[in-house]
Parts: sequence; structure tokens; C-alpha cells
Amino acid sequence: MDYVNTPHVVAMVGLPARGKTYIAMKLARYLNWVGLPTKVFNVGDYRRQALGNYQGHDFFHPRNREGTNIRNKCALDALQDVCEFLQTGGMVAVYDATNTSMERRKLIHDVVCERMGYKLFFIESICNAPAIIETNIMECKVTNPDYTNMEKEDAVKDFLKRIEHYRLFYEPLDEEKETKYSFMKIYDAGRRVVVHKQEGHIESRIAYYLMNIHITPRSIYLTRHGESVYNQLGRIGGDSDLSYRGRQYANALAKFITEQDITNLRVWTSCMKRTIQTASGIDAPQERWKALNEIDAVMHKMKLSLSPVETDLLFRAFVKV
Ligand code: SIN
Repeated sequence: MDYVNTPHVVAMVGLPARGKTYIAMKLARYLNWVGLPTKVFNVGDYRRQALGNYQGHDFFHPRNREGTNIRNKCALDALQDVCEFLQTGGMVAVYDATNTSMERRKLIHDVVCERMGYKLFFIESICNAPAIIETNIMECKVTNPDYTNMEKEDAVKDFLKRIEHYRLFYEPLDEEKETKYSFMKIYDAGRRVVVHKQEGHIESRIAYYLMNIHITPRSIYLTRHGESVYNQLGRIGGDSDLSYRGRQYANALAKFITEQDITNLRVWTSCMKRTIQTASGIDAPQERWKALNEIDAVMHKMKLSLSPVETDLLFRAFVKV
């Protein structure tokens, strides 16, 4: 089988508040960025569309027959849209639901692999670290549309009960009983990762990516380099030192960052003198990355000084058209 061109369904697994939706969105953004058309199908959105107002935690109790029927229908509707997306040019569909029972996972496997001939990769987020669960639950008030019109305290209480309802019938992915599935289990936001029967290029990319991301929030500060000597001369590119004003900027930046008192701060710069000098006053471990070096400065410089016809000729020479 040609795994590169076989559409994939990535099905999330896990209790509520385990970061599934966050992982799904982040993964979709990454896969789209590397050129694989990807879309997330969130079963909670289908329920909200079907019912409008939030029904409260009782709706999710396994003994609530009406709730269970509606939830099953929403799950099937979403799965149908997943298949339609892959039939019409999509390459990866992320099926964002709890999928906490073996029966549900078998159904997904039957539809996706047996009936449609697509590949299926489960991603389970298992979290037992109270601090991470608590952060995710607090986030639910902000990120989960079910709770937008509820007081924070009530939202948290409802969400905790909802998790308990799910826990009653939760069966984690089982390496013995579900041995034929391809899957990845992420424990406590990446503390430990198990990859089972991962096959092909797309699944390798997904596994590698998820092993290297952080699913708990953190801040990234971005800055340009200070003014360089070449900037002063109106030149782009090259590798000159900072100008006097550039050094003033570097000093101000170091002062600002010190004032923020950021724990575990790491600084990344390109390998250019101007970026290294800009960050030189910051008291933190620093790494230089060639991948952060500017690109295309030569073409820009030429485009600036050449006529459109000359630029076009040069471009054709470069790309051999
Ligand atoms: C939901 O309705 O919010 C999620 C449904 C599920 O996947 O359990």
C-alpha cells in the first residue's frame, strides 16, 4: 500500500480535559503547513449544532438513553463528514471526540479502514497529573463553548461531573486487545509516549511532531534584531555588526526581559552577528540556529537594483525555465 498518498483519519481518544482538542488543532495547523490538507471534525460542535443550548452534565451520563442516542448520532454524522472530506481532496481528517470505548474505536476502524480503505491512527491523551488536569479544567471556561454563559465555579463543577460520567465507561487503548490498530499514547502531556504499529510517512511525521510539542501553554517572545551597520547604509542582507542605535536597542531589550523575570527562559537567535549581539545582554542560556538565518536577501537586493526585465531574466536563469 502507498502510505504517502493514502488519506488518513487521526482519531483522538481520552477523557475530557486531557488536551485532545488542543492537540488536534495544533496537529492540523502543522500538517496543513507541511502541505497535507487537514481538517478537524469536533463531535462536540456537532452536538452544539444539533441541540443549541448546553444540556448540563447529566446529558453525558451513560444511563441517559436519549443523551447517548443523540451523542451517537452526532459521532456518526461527524464520521460521515470525515469520509466526505477525504473523498474530496482532504489528506488527513482529525476526528476530535472522546472515543473512550473499544466498541466506538472498532466502529471507527470498520468505517475508516474496512469500508473506505483509509489509514487510521489513534492518539490517546492520558493524564493523571493533577496540576495538568486542573489547568485544563480551568481553561475549559475560556475555550469550551458549552460554558461561555456560565459562572466559572459552576462551569468547573459541571465539567468535573461530566468527566466522572465518562470515567464510568472509559477503556484506554489496549496494546493486547487492540493490537491491530496503529496508535500513540501520550502520558501527562509528553512525560512518556508509547507508539504502537505506526506505519508510513504521515504517521511518522505525526508521531515525531507530537513527541516534540508542549501541550501546556507557554509564552514565546519575538524580537527583530537592532539596527545594523548595513541597515544604516540602506543595505539588506550581509552580516554586519549592530550600529550605535542597534546596541542601544539591545541594552533596552536586556533590561525589559530582566524585568519580566521569566522562569526557564531560553534564547534562540540566528547565526548572524546582528541577532547574536541583539540578545547578548540577556542573562539566559542561548542557542544559535542556522534555520533562523534570513533567506532570500540576495534576490531582494538584486530585485531592488535590477529592472523588472533583468529580474525576470535572472529568475529564469535561477529556476532554469
Ligand atoms: C461532546 O459532545 O462534547 C463530545 C462527544 C464525545 O466525543 O464524547
